[in-house]
Amino acid sequence: MKAAVTTGPGGPDVIIIENNWPKPVPQAGEVLIRIKAFGLNRSELFTRRGDSPGVNFPVIQGIECVGTVEEDNSGTYQRGQQIAAIMGGMGRYINGGYAEYAAVPLKITIPFQSSLPWCILGAIPEMFQTVSGSLTQALQITRGETILIRGGTSSIGLLSAQLARVYGLTVVSTTRNPDKTEHLKANGADHVLLDDGNVSTALRELIPQGVDKVLELIGTPTLKDSLKCIKPRGVVCMTGILGGEWVMKEFQPMGDIPSLGRLTVYMGEAEDLDTQRLQEFIDAVEKGEVTIAIDKTFTLDEVPAAHAYMESNQSKGKIVVEL
Ligand SMILES: NC(=O)c1ccc[n+]([C@@H]2O[C@H](COP(=O)([O-])OP(=O)(O)OC[C@H]3O[C@@H](n4cnc5c(N)ncnc54)[C@H](OP(=O)(O)O)[C@@H]3O)[C@@H](O)[C@H]2O)c1
Repeated sequence: MKAAVTTGPGGPDVIIIENNWPKPVPQAGEVLIRIKAFGLNRSELFTRRGDSPGVNFPVIQGIECVGTVEEDNSGTYQRGQQIAAIMGGMGRYINGGYAEYAAVPLKITIPFQSSLPWCILGAIPEMFQTVSGSLTQALQITRGETILIRGGTSSIGLLSAQLARVYGLTVVSTTRNPDKTEHLKANGADHVLLDDGNVSTALRELIPQGVDKVLELIGTPTLKDSLKCIKPRGVVCMTGILGGEWVMKEFQPMGDIPSLGRLTVYMGEAEDLDTQRLQEFIDAVEKGEVTIAIDKTFTLDEVPAAHAYMESNQSKGKIVVEL
């Protein structure tokens, strides 16, 4: 089969396109998926650079994919049925989605039915799971609240703004790039703030009492400033590390977290996304109730270019690879 194989830690050029890689043979408890598309994810840049602990190279990366069932010895699925797979060590400890086929554990697969194009379907599973988990489980958003989305132009940020708006929240999104302001507004932001590391001052001018919720996608470099943006009993959820820093240099819980404020994190897994919720979301996209912001689509041969493009931070939405 054809596969984009990451041969060792490094830049995008360590990903080599192999045309005769062995097609995986599904073991007991595994489903063989014929891959049609997959979304590119920031964590895959970390894995490629060698920053994901426990990953042995060479590896076929890709923490998610959508496609059809090729073989399922458990008898759970019919051959040809549409299916998604996310996480569960895919693309890290077991070969993942950057290939024509992947053999993955049954427990990380989710079936669905849709006539949407594969490039749209490929953008959905990991992005929807993360957005829905962050907003509904971690932040527990409710109608009438205000939310600040830090790193608003990321694919996670754009879908979060759209869904938060649908749920009846007032949305403030941030970007470092003023040229992306209109795009943010077209994707659900009521207000846009330019982020130079300090948005709390401008936020308090806009909403003096502070916001109810913050979705922090930049991470440790802006976390303290995000904590300054919440009202009493407000919640900050750190879901992303776009800033690229895992460890915070100085953190004083009594002081950096305002009294009664709450700080949480979201790190999703496949079991957070049940079949019904994924199908309902796909149906909403099919009906045009939600728009998936796809920035660019690449082919499997172009995976190294797709990595370089994500690293350039030019994107305004999901980067998808379609086979
Ligand atoms: N916890 C989970 O389960 C989970 C799951 C999936 C993703 N994530 C995380 O969610 C975040 C968003 O992922 P994504 O795939 O949606 O990202 P993405 O679409 O690739 O985000 C691209 C945008 O991020 C912003 N950005 C990049 N570097 C930045 C920096 N140093 N400081 C501030 N902004 C920066 C840029 O926006 P501007 O140029 O407009 O500022 C850029 O356009 C990532 O950190 C990812 O790892 C977490």
